[in-house]
Amino acid sequence: MTSYTPREDRYDRMIYNRCGNSGLKLPAISLGLWHNFGHDTPHATKQAICRTAFDHGITHFDLANNYGPPPGSAEEAFGELLRTDFRGLRDELIISSKAGYLMWNGPYGEWGSRKYVIASCDQSLKRMGLDYVDIFYSHRFDPGTPLEETMGALDHIVRSGRAQYIGISSYNSQRTREAVAILKDLGTPLLIHQPSYNILNRWVETDGLKDTLKDLGVGSIAFVPLAQGILTNKYLNGIPAGSRATQGKSLDPAVVEKALASVRTLNDMAAARGQTLAQMALAWVLRSGGITSALIGASRPEQVSDCCGAIQNLDFTAEELARIDAISEEKALNLWARSSDG
Ligand SMILES: NC(=O)c1ccc[n+]([C@@H]2O[C@H](COP(=O)([O-])OP(=O)(O)OC[C@H]3O[C@@H](n4cnc5c(N)ncnc54)[C@H](OP(=O)(O)O)[C@@H]3O)[C@@H](O)[C@H]2O)c1
Repeated sequence: MTSYTPREDRYDRMIYNRCGNSGLKLPAISLGLWHNFGHDTPHATKQAICRTAFDHGITHFDLANNYGPPPGSAEEAFGELLRTDFRGLRDELIISSKAGYLMWNGPYGEWGSRKYVIASCDQSLKRMGLDYVDIFYSHRFDPGTPLEETMGALDHIVRSGRAQYIGISSYNSQRTREAVAILKDLGTPLLIHQPSYNILNRWVETDGLKDTLKDLGVGSIAFVPLAQGILTNKYLNGIPAGSRATQGKSLDPAVVEKALASVRTLNDMAAARGQTLAQMALAWVLRSGGITSALIGASRPEQVSDCCGAIQNLDFTAEELARIDAISEEKALNLWARSSDG
């Protein structure tokens, strides 16, 4: 194990945005550990990705109970990094986890019951070796559980010291309003919403969620801002070996092929702006301050560095925005549509 000294100038390299009406600031770019942090990835790669992120001023690392493979292993890997590389840096980090998707067998291993959500939070803390997470999320709306019960579990998680703040993910605009009202009564405000959002998936606009969050003073962190890699230069000349589309996991190569003509046009636009396509895609998500943070994933540290370059140019002309609007193909790519339909 080599020792790690974070870059002194890391906080000068990032923009920090206030998360809704809260006192918490999040980096404009955050790092998620959904892919590339399981047993299928060497420790050295995970370590290099997290070090590079922190050196760029990325203070926020996003996890969930089921990230791996196998489920739970991403939290274990991150726990290992917390004990080694990031030892002594806990107060400089915002760490989140979530419960909602299948984690263990039987009737109490998924969705939104109090039984599951609190037990899952305890398991996540144990895997990461933490006393508390900064943000704990309900990962998806559960149509079979009263919303009061799920929100009550989140409120309890904060009151019992297991988390500092709470969030919800992929809830639609109406459910979000209901959740906020319940939480207001309970006395624990909703800090943040985590929806999918990118140039090719604009459900947060059509559903009204983006405006709702602004209206309610709730922060927002956009997941899959690069459409799992489609909105980068990586697929322009075919599907490269080792890329996510070859792994038979969450990204169907047919979806990549379908988007390619649009991606080529977007890539030309990005070049004209002096950005890589990944940078332009992230800048677009963050445009006009409508979203607190763009939550990226990475399989290599160089990708993190490239993505962080997005903050150098977050402005778009009206003409650029109109061209991007014309290219957007929402429905084809919202893989999380069902959980936001609840
Ligand atoms: N709340 C939810 O339900 C939910 C669901 C999904 C994700 N998330 C969160 O969102 C995070 C991000 O998701 P994601 O990984 O799908 O996001 P993403 O940023 O849209 O895609 C990341 C992938 O894009 C490629 N990439 C990244 N930067 C690149 C660059 N500069 N140049 C070329 N390729 C680049 C890499 O693909 P290769 O691996 O092919 O190199 C990387 O794995 C997750 O880790 C998780 O924390 C939340």
